[in-house]
Amino acid sequence: MKSVPGQLAAPSGAAAPSRHGVANLARRCADVVLAPSPAAMRRIAAAGVLASAGIILTGAGVRLSQSGLGCPDWPNCTATSIVASGATGDPLIHRWVEFGNRLVTVAIFVIAILVWVAAWRYRPDGRGRRRDLVWLASAQPVGILGQAALGGIVVLTDLDPVWVTVHFLFSMALVAAAVALYARCTEGRGPTRLLVARELRLFACGAVGVLCLMITAGTVVTGTGPLAGARSVPRFHLPLGGVTQLHADIGWLLAGLVIALALGLRLLGAPRRAVRLGWALLALIGAQGVIGYTQYFTGLPAGLVWFHVAGATAIWIVAVRLLFTLRDRGRVDAAAPAMPSPGAVPDAPRP
Ligand code: HEM
Repeated sequence: MKSVPGQLAAPSGAAAPSRHGVANLARRCADVVLAPSPAAMRRIAAAGVLASAGIILTGAGVRLSQSGLGCPDWPNCTATSIVASGATGDPLIHRWVEFGNRLVTVAIFVIAILVWVAAWRYRPDGRGRRRDLVWLASAQPVGILGQAALGGIVVLTDLDPVWVTVHFLFSMALVAAAVALYARCTEGRGPTRLLVARELRLFACGAVGVLCLMITAGTVVTGTGPLAGARSVPRFHLPLGGVTQLHADIGWLLAGLVIALALGLRLLGAPRRAVRLGWALLALIGAQGVIGYTQYFTGLPAGLVWFHVAGATAIWIVAVRLLFTLRDRGRVDAAAPAMPSPGAVPDAPRP
């Protein structure tokens, strides 16, 4: 039978090891953030992606449950209270949904700070701080503060669709920064080497450009449609059928481009991960199209629209990640090339 290691044995009573265990656990958790290994950094960056995507989904929940003006004031919930309380003429549940979303923002801000600290402390190759990662990680806490201010403008302008659109698109930009951090923290500092033909990469960038257009057109449909987030708020004065048609037409163009991209990646020898992401992107766009048409022809049921927003977020994450798989920048832990010592004779060039 194996003996119990000395440091785990309880010197007096049963409480000691558990206190020890808690301290060890706390130290291990702190190490994950304060001295992250490449695997830990990747997981923390993934948490940043989930958090920044999560706030889009809770924000969509606020709009789709008609709770957009549940807290009619900002930064306080109501004129007299920082939390959800009192009477505002709106059902209490709306106030709690909107206030709950504000609390989620606080939780997400804490995650963003942890991501930033981890990026600051990350030294995978022993060559000092990775400034590129620190800049990318800074986007998360700074962006959330910007989003909080934008959210305030949205509330104080009674959900003006222009500001709702800016708020949504800014969230998508933050998701892109979080995905870029996730991808970059697994790459080294070497020069960029393309893993596919330059033309194929250009094509992929073009498809992602059309996706940006698609997402923007979607926000115009939302700003025109009936799911405004509260009753009697401003709307874009556009024909709903027309803007939805335009949005769907861009979708067909996007689907065509992504079919060509997925086939191009498969047939032109792209890395396996890029090929997999290409097929995943195509499948998600197909599903998104089905949800889009279904919601349009069934009178925009809020639950289905929530899945449409979730689908758009997932598509965006996969598309941005795909772009990073088309290149290589060396191993993340590649050591610095050795500096020649002063006076050393360089190797003679080989014949
Ligand atoms: C790649 C495919 C698609 C993407 C990426 C996409 C993306 C989006 C986005 C980002 C929004 C705005 C969400 C918001 O502001 O909260 C939206 C709204 C909308 N989309 Fe799409 N969409 C796609 C396909 C389609 C298709 C094929 C249709 C079919 C008609 C469609 C119908 C709609 C409608 C009706 C809305 C407004 C929903 C509302 O009132 O909130 N979408 N879409």
